[in-house]
Amino acid sequence: MARPERRNAMTGRTWTALAHIGQTLPESVRIVVVKGDGPSFSAGIDLAMFSPEGVEGERSLMRDLRDGDPDHSALADTIASYQEGFLWLRDPGIVSIASVRGHAIGAGFQLALSCDLRVLADDARMCMKEPALGLVPDLTGTKPLVETVGVSRALELCLTAREVPAEEARELRLAEVVVDGASLDATVDDLVAGLLATPAEAATATKELIRQAPGNTLEEQAEAERRAQIGRLAALARGGDG
Ligand code: ACO
Repeated sequence: MARPERRNAMTGRTWTALAHIGQTLPESVRIVVVKGDGPSFSAGIDLAMFSPEGVEGERSLMRDLRDGDPDHSALADTIASYQEGFLWLRDPGIVSIASVRGHAIGAGFQLALSCDLRVLADDARMCMKEPALGLVPDLTGTKPLVETVGVSRALELCLTAREVPAEEARELRLAEVVVDGASLDATVDDLVAGLLATPAEAATATKELIRQAPGNTLEEQAEAERRAQIGRLAALARGGDG
């Protein structure tokens, strides 16, 4: 994100552009690092999106609401198109890393949560601001939040909309690692190098397995492991990358 003068506040166009990146990502890309220019990861949604005028050149959420049909299907479609910008970051073929310095608020926090891994600078502060603004978090962040911190802590964080400092984020497992700000980029580079050292197809198959584990019974997961391993062994026997 490259809008530091607005603390990387995001608009609908940011999310449809993100979705486009996901849809057109070359197959050779294995790691995606999401970061923001300037002192903040992202201040979340551009607050102008809630004004009747909206953001110049973009659909206004409020106009969609006013002009929409009683089911608000146009608005639901608009939100779905925004969510596409976040969903692909979980794809098994890549590992996504949020590199977070400063504030990750609202949609910014949800963007960080959409990534597989989070590396935080020690000045990072995460906040699920939506409920405080009369909204709900709707950019696919509630599931990873609950899966990471549990229902009770997720409720507390969302309903107080308090800022979670970096060290607490690490304790809550919202961050894999916290480093001083000067070391953030080098730490992410090292992590990328470590991830790239694992063969691509094995990494993809393993991510697929790990991602499905929370929704599977033990028996289902054991079966998935067998299936995946047979695929791996067959690839190794064919002389694939393993
Ligand atoms: N939307 C639009 N403009 C923003 C946003 C935003 N979300 N956040 C910051 N800006 C603008 C400010 O208005 C300011 O503009 P100005 O220079 O014309 O006055 C500029 O970016 C810099 O912001 P500051 O507040 O001066 O920067 P600071 O580093 O002191 O604070 C912080 C950063 C904490 C992120 C603060 O700007 C803030 O609280 N922003 C609003 C956060 C918010 O409520 N986001 C919505 C969450 S809900 C959701 O995302 C769905």
